[in-house]
Amino acid sequence: MKSLWKSGALAAFAAVIVMTSACGGGNGGGGNGGGATAPAQQGGGGNAGGDKVVLGFSQVGAESGWRTANSDSIKESAAAAGFELKFSDAQQKQENQIKAIRSFIQQKVDVIAFSPVVESGWDTVLQEAKDAGIPVILTDRAVDSEDTSLYETFIGSDFVEEGRRAGRWLLEQFKDASEPVNIVELQGTTGSAPAIDRKTGFEEVIKDNANLKIIASQSGDFTRAKGKEVMQSFLQANPDIDVLYAHNDDMGLGAIQAIEAAGLVPGKDIIIITVDAVKDGMTAAAEGKINFIVECNPLLGPQLMQAVSDVLAGKDIPKRIVTEEGTFTSEEAKAALPDRKY
Ligand code: AHR
Repeated sequence: MKSLWKSGALAAFAAVIVMTSACGGGNGGGGNGGGATAPAQQGGGGNAGGDKVVLGFSQVGAESGWRTANSDSIKESAAAAGFELKFSDAQQKQENQIKAIRSFIQQKVDVIAFSPVVESGWDTVLQEAKDAGIPVILTDRAVDSEDTSLYETFIGSDFVEEGRRAGRWLLEQFKDASEPVNIVELQGTTGSAPAIDRKTGFEEVIKDNANLKIIASQSGDFTRAKGKEVMQSFLQANPDIDVLYAHNDDMGLGAIQAIEAAGLVPGKDIIIITVDAVKDGMTAAAEGKINFIVECNPLLGPQLMQAVSDVLAGKDIPKRIVTEEGTFTSEEAKAALPDRKY
């Protein structure tokens, strides 16, 4: 049971979150509505932080510019909400996330939130949190658990749609192609929701043109270094690459280094599509090195804090909160870059 003071803290948070959302800009839709004023009705923990609401957050790692912006958003939003944040970096390892979640359960935090590095293998630890009466919120990435009562909500992007957006742009560019268009694909972390879904959405759309062929596809683990390394091997094995589809900006940026080192011009000799639209990616797009970026918004902090507040207040919240996002051509990236927040 929460103390009345904590209920008061939630009410104060409601005012803060309204202000944060109003000033945020570009954080997409799917908000949960009003703030929390009712006494907390959920959460079997609640002893961890004295008077403050305690949120345990297990982050994937620090693999990309997107992730850094996402971590910053969560830390800033928790501070603005007056929540005590226990932040744990899993360094891209599922076992570290499971350890962190178990530690949050032991510490009796009020709410656990996490961005699962991969989709599978969460049922046992999520059941442990449920048995302890601690609500769990998923952010950014989904789990494939059939029992959806193991978590309150999933806040994040529609990764399949992101893949479709990449595919639709490519389909349009090559609608008159009469010869094969050779595509190489840099996938995100194997088994992660964005890697699975961005591939699915892209393939679903490009199958409409038999000339569009994925000739090589490999994981670059969402990192710049791996993106460069895998692109080097793609270039060595395939002399005639027309298009690179990278599941994030960082891998695309690593690949650009490999393409330039091979004496080719990124954005011209090889058409490049990436996902994220973080500053470094947008800069490369503005320079014409990336031709098209599908946006994936990392600023999930305000929506997460709102959901924490609502869950603790016993409100019904949607099981799925989808982030609103856009796309950028090189020209659009040039125009948007000066105001880009991350
Ligand atoms: O889950 C979101 C993805 O994770 C981002 O697109 C990628 O950059 C990050 O590492």
